[in-house]
Amino acid sequence: MSTIFPKWTNALPTLLAGGGVTGLAIVVGTIWYTFTPKFWDVGYMPKQPGGGFNHQIHAGKLGLDCRYCHTNVEVSPEANIPSVATCYGCHADGRLTKLATSEDHKAKTAFVREAYASDEPIEWRRIHKLPDYVRNFPHHSHVAAGVSCISCHGNIARQPEVWQHEPLSMGWCLECHRNPDPHLQPKDKVTRLFDIEDRQQQLGLAGLASAGAKFYEERKIHAPENCGACHY
Ligand code: HEC
Ligand code: HEC
Ligand code: HEC
Ligand code: HEC
Ligand code: HEC
Repeated sequence: MSTIFPKWTNALPTLLAGGGVTGLAIVVGTIWYTFTPKFWDVGYMPKQPGGGFNHQIHAGKLGLDCRYCHTNVEVSPEANIPSVATCYGCHADGRLTKLATSEDHKAKTAFVREAYASDEPIEWRRIHKLPDYVRNFPHHSHVAAGVSCISCHGNIARQPEVWQHEPLSMGWCLECHRNPDPHLQPKDKVTRLFDIEDRQQQLGLAGLASAGAKFYEERKIHAPENCGACHY
């Protein structure tokens, strides 16, 4: 951002959080929005414990539903990362009988049993993070409206290590809020990312938009564009 904006814009989040500068914020917001770098932070992939949690194996090959681990996504404004106990349910000594004898598998999953034994959490590093001055990102409302994980996180079930797929910029939020139709999916498919990929290929953008337009009416969708919906 520093390459595009003068230094003083760094103070903006603080100013916004303090409130009372709406006039300035709107002027600057408009300028800022126009120049939003669309691909800010895309590709962010910090180094993770144990080489990272492999969604390609667990959600892809083994077909575990996202909600097996991310139990909050439908009920809470904040998604959650599972505790070691969830992993230990499968990775306790001897539990995966076929694999239990493979030295390679034992070595790769040892950090799970070590964390469990010492009652320590695994220190996953957070990847998707909105700045604090974005007051409101209700995760559950999006899932309930039928927006699939794939629209905002890409096909995680193909990722051996999670990386940020979308810019998470204001321009990105608003682009969808102005025209959510192509992102509205059958509700029972929201976490079934391979089904969504098939659907995207079969229908194409025009087909997704017209199917989505029906969901838009049925579900009485309202995606806000006013500043206060997302900021203080
Ligand atoms: C067996 C448990 C498990 C399943 C199933 C699972 N995840 Fe995860 N997920 C994790 C763990 C552990 C992390 C934290 C480690 C990491 O970020 O690599 C994580 C991280 C993530 C993140 C990044 C969080 C951040 O830090 O920003 C996203 C997004 C995500 N998962 C989405 C999904 C989606 C979508 C599905 C279903 C297709 C899914 N997960 C299925 C365990 C799981
Ligand atoms: C429902 C059972 C189940 C759960 C829950 C589960 N795993 Fe696994 N995990 C497996 C199986 C089965 C494999 C082996 C898959 C294969 O090699 O085809 C595996 C493989 C792994 C591997 C080895 C990956 C590789 O590259 O070979 C790691 C590391 C791992 N899991 C960590 C975790 C962590 C961390 C969690 C919790 C967030 C977790 N698992 C939750 C079943 C599970
Ligand atoms: C409309 C976009 C959108 C959709 C749909 C969406 N997410 Fe997210 N997700 C985000 C954003 C943005 C963040 C960062 C939120 C923040 O910083 O407050 C996030 C964060 C997360 C995190 C990290 C939570 C943490 O505490 O580290 C996980 C896990 C996650 N999402 C999983 C999922 C799963 C699973 C689905 C599908 C059921 C899903 N998301 C659907 C946008 C989305
Ligand atoms: C891919 C599409 C999409 C993206 C990207 C997206 N949203 Fe939304 N958002 C929606 C839809 C659809 C709704 C309407 C939900 C409804 O009507 O129940 C919505 C609703 C909301 C609401 C109102 C929720 C409520 O319960 O009334 C807020 C606040 C919001 N979004 C914030 C954000 C923020 C912040 C971002 C960016 C970080 C974002 N959204 C990105 C599709 C999206
Ligand atoms: C749908 C949610 C949403 C709405 C509505 C929204 N914003 Fe934002 N805004 C965001 C998100 C998310 C960011 C953070 C983007 C990032 O991290 O790059 C942001 C960032 C900003 C920033 C940038 C601060 C900086 O320099 O980094 C300003 C200024 C701003 N918004 C002002 C506004 C104004 C003024 C309005 C009303 C016209 C508005 N926003 C409406 C989601 C929203």
